[in-house]
Amino acid sequence: MGMLPDAGTGLLALIGWPVAHSLSPVMHNAGFRRLGWNLCYLAFAVPPEPGEVAAAVKGLRALGSRGFNVTVPHKEAVAKLVDELDHSATQVGAVNTVAVRQGSLVGYNTDGLGFIASLKEQGFDPKGHSVLVFGAGGAARGVVAAMVQAGVRRVVVANRSPDKAQRLVEDVRSFQPLAEIQAVPLEYACVVRQAQGVTLVINTTSVGLNPEDPPVWTDFSIFDSRSLVVDLIYHSETTPFLALANEAGFRTMNGLGMLVHQAALSWQVWFGEPGPVDVFYDAARSALRERGSGADHKRKE
Ligand code: ATR
Repeated sequence: MGMLPDAGTGLLALIGWPVAHSLSPVMHNAGFRRLGWNLCYLAFAVPPEPGEVAAAVKGLRALGSRGFNVTVPHKEAVAKLVDELDHSATQVGAVNTVAVRQGSLVGYNTDGLGFIASLKEQGFDPKGHSVLVFGAGGAARGVVAAMVQAGVRRVVVANRSPDKAQRLVEDVRSFQPLAEIQAVPLEYACVVRQAQGVTLVINTTSVGLNPEDPPVWTDFSIFDSRSLVVDLIYHSETTPFLALANEAGFRTMNGLGMLVHQAALSWQVWFGEPGPVDVFYDAARSALRERGSGADHKRKE
């Protein structure tokens, strides 16, 4: 314990903008400490201006980093900068984990499988389920692609901007032509019409990061009572969306499991073995407790 960096310390990193609230450094460093590995994980705020991400990626390679994570808004840019893309990243066109192997950069995406792992940890195998997803941004893309891969029966994507949902649906169909997936506007009547048979409901929007936000959806009476209701937000145990679902008697899950499992799968990419999930949970929960649950805590990693 208490190992300090020395001349032999290996560097892992996160690049994003902003990164100040990221829980990745506390999780990964707690894991390294637990295993007694001489590694250090640092978060770097890399501005979104053209050329900056490319310089950061080149710099990490030149500095001999074993690998790094990538977060908003650089996931798509890094997918174009790596030497090779793993299939986990090609379909979403976004990279959250890079391995440096003999100076060559290989891009992966562990967000989607991290999400699936967090569902399974709750005893929920999404295979065969019908899913309603609120939101069509980067987070939605990752989880939808992973769920289609995992064999869900049907996906409905409800988004405020319907064109964005339509684009997501078309992109998924381009690699999974048989996927039963459709886009609808996030309007009461449109969502109600699609609710039949849904057994997994997921909020991927940022609505609820501010606890004063009205929930993205309020009428849970339209869903099958056996449904699992998920919010990808993790800065607090519950969100306005999950609180309503709970009151209505549903099983619920926040986004902490996805955060922890994407980190564990990053270890798989870097070290060939998954990270210690229990250590990551403890580190993330104690960091969240220390911070309190302010509204400025982004869920992004
Ligand atoms: P992320 O990586 O979190 O997915 P994003 O790509 O910016 O971030 O996407 C944010 C998502 O939250 C989008 O689906 C967005 O809807 P629009 O496509 O219509 O912008 C959704 N969102 C954000 N604020 C919202 C609000 N007040 N009501 C409904 N949806 C909202």
